[in-house]
This record gives sequence, structure tokens and C-alpha cells, in this order.
Amino acid sequence: MYAPKPASLLLAEVAVARVKPGERVLDACTGSGVVGLAVARHVEGSVVTVADLAESALAAARANATGNGVVLGVVHSDLYAAFEAGSFDVITVHPPAVPYPADGDWGLSQGMRVATDGGDDGSALVVRSIVEARPLLRPGGRLLLLLPHWSHLGKARQALTDTYGAVEELDRLKVEFFPAREGRPDDRLLAHLKRLAAEGSIEMTFDGPVPESVVSVIEARID
Ligand SMILES: C[S@@+](CC[C@H](N)C(=O)[O-])C[C@H]1O[C@@H](n2cnc3c(N)ncnc32)[C@H](O)[C@@H]1O
Repeated sequence: MYAPKPASLLLAEVAVARVKPGERVLDACTGSGVVGLAVARHVEGSVVTVADLAESALAAARANATGNGVVLGVVHSDLYAAFEAGSFDVITVHPPAVPYPADGDWGLSQGMRVATDGGDDGSALVVRSIVEARPLLRPGGRLLLLLPHWSHLGKARQALTDTYGAVEELDRLKVEFFPAREGRPDDRLLAHLKRLAAEGSIEMTFDGPVPESVVSVIEARID
């Protein structure tokens, strides 16, 4: 779990704008709970559950809810496994999406690895979070996905259009690829990113001291 980043705050802002009063919301991969907390605090009558695999994240989300005087359900879950079909009007999710080459780890701490590891091309949890959300949504339900463009974009877009009736990008933001600032990436790791960018799998520029990319908030509707 990690402290909210610009991407986290973008998803929180969009979620507050898109969730309607009284809706049932799941914030999966919640980390500190920032997205779920923002919705519960600012959308009247919303009923919010937050979930994560990491106990440290759940403890932080509970503490942040208490500290902000917000009532939330806090549930331990591997992605959506703890929830029944048709439970939510909206699912928000900011999945781990960093491409970890098989023989490299970006030099981040173990906790940051769990919070960020998206497999070789960054898409493993992104694609699962798209496809496995669909059965949990009620009629008229929406997925609000924070999609980092440092994970395989073609796979994410294919999963979105294969699974949902309507897909729209609501907002986007240029951001630093933070593992290159917070970790200890060497030339071999950067070469992995450059290879993915050159083949068009991810979007990243390498002009400054820290690579830059984009994050999008995608709304996917089942109708
Ligand atoms: C990119 S962080 C996002 C945190 C927070 N939502 C935010 O925007 O700041 C991803 C979160 O997913 C959690 N996570 C990783 N694998 C998971 C899994 N299989 N099931 C549920 N949560 C998982 C991590 O513990 C981490 O808190």
C-alpha cells in the first residue's frame, strides 16, 4: 500500500463526480482507502465498501476512515473474490500495473512490490480488474478504472471492449513513472520499459531524468 499519488487523487475526484447519491460502491485495490473515503465523504447516501489483499492497507483504510469520521465497509479480498454477483452500482479500481521484468524488480520495497506488480507487461491485474468486475455490477452499473499507460494498453482496451457495452475515457493526467524516482532502476530495467514503449505496448517518454507517462480514468458501462 502507498500514500496517495496524483493518479489516486484523479480517480477520487472523478469518482466523486460520477457516483450518484445513494449508490452502492466498491473501491477495490483500495490501499490507503483514498478513493472510497472521498466517495463516502462527498456523495450523499453512498454506501461504500473498500477491499484489498494486504492487511496493512486494510488497517490504513480503517484508520483513515476513523480519522475522517467516515463509515466504510472494509473487507479482505483477492480482487473481487469476497463479493457476490450484482452487489454494486459502481466499482472503482486502481490496480497494480507496473511492468516487472522476470529478472528485475525496480528496486522498490517488498510492500511497494505487492502494491505495484502488474507482471511482465503490467497488464495482469489490470485485465483481471476489468473482466472480473462485470458480474458484480447491477443493471446500469459502471466500472471506473484508473488505467496507467505504463501497462499494456492493447490488452486493457481489448478487455474493456470485449466485456462492456460502452467505454469512455473521462479524464487523463501526465505523470512521472514513479518507480524510477522511488526505486533503484538500473539500465537493464529501463531497457525493459523502452522495449515495451518501442513496440507500442505502453506509452512512455524518456526525455527527462524520470520517464513520464499518462494515467486515464476510464468509465465502462454494462448497458
Ligand atoms: C496501485 S495501488 C492503489 C492504491 C489506492 N487505490 C490508490 O489509488 O492510491 C494497488 C493496491 O492494490 C492492492 N493489491 C495488489 N494485488 C491485489 C489483489 N490481488 N487483490 C486485491 N488488492 C490487491 C495493493 O495492496 C495496493 O494497495
